[in-house]
Amino acid sequence: MTGSRSAKDFFRPLAVGAPTPLTEIPARPSRAIHFFDPSNPKMAAKVPDLVGTVDVLLGNLEDAIKADNKEAARQGLVDIATETDFGPTQLWTRINALDSPWVLDDLTTLVPAIGHKLDVIMVPKVQGAEDIHYVDRILAQLEAKAGLDRPILVHAILETARGVANVEEICGASPRMQGLSLGPADLAADRRMKTTRVGGGHPGYLVRQDPPKNDVGVADVDAKRATYQQDLWHYTISRMVDACAMHGIYPYYGPFGDIADVVACEDQFRNAFLLGCVGTWSLHPKQIAIANRVFSPSVEDVAHARRVVAAMGDGTGAVMLDGKMEDDASLKQCLVMVELAEQLAAIDPELKKQYDEIGTDA
Ligand code: GLV
Ligand code: MG
Repeated sequence: MTGSRSAKDFFRPLAVGAPTPLTEIPARPSRAIHFFDPSNPKMAAKVPDLVGTVDVLLGNLEDAIKADNKEAARQGLVDIATETDFGPTQLWTRINALDSPWVLDDLTTLVPAIGHKLDVIMVPKVQGAEDIHYVDRILAQLEAKAGLDRPILVHAILETARGVANVEEICGASPRMQGLSLGPADLAADRRMKTTRVGGGHPGYLVRQDPPKNDVGVADVDAKRATYQQDLWHYTISRMVDACAMHGIYPYYGPFGDIADVVACEDQFRNAFLLGCVGTWSLHPKQIAIANRVFSPSVEDVAHARRVVAAMGDGTGAVMLDGKMEDDASLKQCLVMVELAEQLAAIDPELKKQYDEIGTDA
């Protein structure tokens, strides 16, 4: 949405001399957004070794950084960004919330110092389009002053009830909008959900098989019955995916706090991948490998997709492959898979080898 601005003005810079806004957000692989605390010297020292092993490195300034460390984290990020060559890895940051006393200094420090290296700024607790407009204008002013030649993109965390209610207008609030992440911890609190977990499921949120009936047709409610745990985040992720797709930007899962439970983490990530998300956060190095695996299409899926593309010729009509109908629509589904595989292969030589070897499943 453009508010009261004319559509013609939407892609004009918001400050004299600021870079021209992009009309399309590039599909850069971002399977894992790996969070680090720039105020923690041990973590900071590991950053150069992570370059090239993860699609996105994110210097976190918001929650999980103690109030006493906010300035050290900001300065630490400036130092790390200045000293590190990030090569193919993107550099993002999560700034403090817009209602905090730190955020203005975050922006006025980071953009002049390392704006040329920052790809995306993640804004937490976004409530509506007005929050994006605020950041949009300040970034334009700072970019103009710093002489940047490309706009820094903005990513919003969806973690308030109002933010969810306004998700479409948030995605469309600026040409800078790159994507959305789910913030299940803050969102649970804001909605007064009754889970204390950071992301993931809950054993109480389930459906139960119907009770068996006895000889006279009476339901035996005490019989042992199967239960199936449900995904607490399904609704929100689905809304995010639609809002992002509608605006040509990218949806992400967020944090999975139970670092030890790599199995449930993988399940949660995969649900998000299947629903349309392009990546997730990583809070521990072992979650990077999980995210890279889950958010890369399997070689089997890529082989199948290539086979359908080859069989569909000019893309119209229908063909039967292994007893299954394929048509214009399933071709489009397959093209999503093939295009993603190509983007990932371009930055991940190991994956490229796997995709090249398999060919098609013909
Ligand atoms: C992330 O910021 C969350 O609140 O889950
Ligand atoms: Mg949060």
